Amino acid sequence: MERIAPGGRALLRTADGVVFARGGLPGERVRVAVERAARGVRHGVVTEVLERSAERVAPDCALHPRCGGCDLLDLAEHARARVKCEIVRDALARVARLEPPLIEQALRPLRAPGPHDDRARRRVSVVLHGGLPTLSAPESHQRVSVERCPALHATLERGLAQLAAARGPDGVRAQLACDERAGAVLALERDARLARAFVDAGGRGAVLTVDERSFGDPSLIGEVTSDAHPCRSDAGVFAQATRFGGAAIRDEVMRAVAPDSGTRVLELFCGSGHLTVPLLAAGAHVEACEGDARAVRFCRDNVALVDAGARALVRQLAIDEGLRTERAPDVVVIDPPRAGFPGLARLADQLRPRRFVLVSCDPATGARDLASLIARGRRLVALVPIDAFPRTSHVEWVATVE
Ligand SMILES: C[S@@+](CC[C@H](N)C(=O)[O-])C[C@H]1O[C@@H](n2cnc3c(N)ncnc32)[C@H](O)[C@@H]1O
Repeated sequence: MERIAPGGRALLRTADGVVFARGGLPGERVRVAVERAARGVRHGVVTEVLERSAERVAPDCALHPRCGGCDLLDLAEHARARVKCEIVRDALARVARLEPPLIEQALRPLRAPGPHDDRARRRVSVVLHGGLPTLSAPESHQRVSVERCPALHATLERGLAQLAAARGPDGVRAQLACDERAGAVLALERDARLARAFVDAGGRGAVLTVDERSFGDPSLIGEVTSDAHPCRSDAGVFAQATRFGGAAIRDEVMRAVAPDSGTRVLELFCGSGHLTVPLLAAGAHVEACEGDARAVRFCRDNVALVDAGARALVRQLAIDEGLRTERAPDVVVIDPPRAGFPGLARLADQLRPRRFVLVSCDPATGARDLASLIARGRRLVALVPIDAFPRTSHVEWVATVE
C-alpha cells in the first residue's frame, strides 16, 4: 500500500487501476478481499497483513474496526499528523492543481492538540437501534451499538448510557453534547417521552428541535468558544465537536482576518456565532449569514452580549449562488458544511473583497473552492491544517486567499 486516502483507507495504484483497502497502512504488503469494483477502482478490506508496517499499533478501542468512527487507530499516533499533511498536500496538488513550490510556500505546520489528547469529543450523533445508541459501520448501513467510546468526553459517554436507559424507538436520530458543566444534553427532533426519560435517567437536559420544548436544562455555554466570549447553544445546532478544534479555527480565522475597527466582514455559514462574536468584539463590522433558524436565534442572542450595535447584522437565509449582501466587504469569511460552497467564484466576481478566509472540513471540496478563486487570479497566501479529530484521517484547514 502507498498511502492513506481521506476516509482512512490505504491506497495502491496498480496497472489495473486503483485499490482502496480498509485496514492497510503505507508500506505494507497485504491481502485484500475486494468488496466492489467499478471503472478501474476496487474497494475492499485487508484480510491478512503479509509485511507489517513498523507504525502499526494495537487499536485502543474494542469496537475497532467494526465502528466507522475513528479510522486511524491501527496507525501510531506520531504518524497520524504526517498522514493528514499528506492528505492536504494531495488535495492541493490534485484538486486545486497547485504546483509543489506554491503549496510549500503556503502550507503551515499542522496545529494539533498534545499527544494522547483523547476523550476530546464533546458532540456525537447517534441513531437508536434496539433501544441502544449506535454509530454506522464503515462503508455500510449496518449499525454498531456504542456503550463505551474512548474518543468521547467522559460526560458524553455517561450521556450514551443515559440515552440507552431511556429506551427510545428504533430509527430515532439523537445529538448528544456537553460543556464544562456537569451532565450531557440531548437534542431530538420530536419524541417528548424519550426526552423526559433521558432527563429522568440523569441527563442534564433535552430539547425538541421541532417545537423548542425543553426538559431539564438543555443549554450549552462556551462548549467550544472562548472563555472571554462564551456562546450559548444547545445540542440541536452546529458546533465544532472538539474544544481544541473550535479554538484553533477561531484563532486562525482571527489571525487571517486581522480585524480592526473599520474592517467590514461578510461571514457566511455563521452558525450560532462562534466566529461572529470574536470578530465583533475585535471591532469589525460583520454581516453574518446562516440558514438554520435555531442557530440564527442563538447567534443574535450571543451577538447582543458584545453590544456591537449597528456593526452587527445577522441574517437568516439559504446561502446559494444568488446571495445578495447588504454591505460591500473587505474580507469574506466562509465556514461551509462538507459540501463546501460552489457559489464562491460568483461571489468573488460580484464583491471583489481584498481577502477571503476559507474554513474547510473536507480537503476535496475545500481544494475545489480554492481552485475557483485561484482561477480568477487570486493567490493562496497561507493554509493552516488543523487536527480537530486526532484519532481519524479527518483534517480541517483555514486558508487565506488574497
Ligand atoms: C461548519 S458549520 C459552521 C458554523 C460556525 N461558523 C461555527 O464555527 O460554529 C456550517 C453551518 O452552515 C449552515 N448551513 C449549511 N448549509 C447552508 C445553506 N445552504 N445556507 C445557509 N446556511 C447553511 C449550517 O446550519 C451550519 O450552521
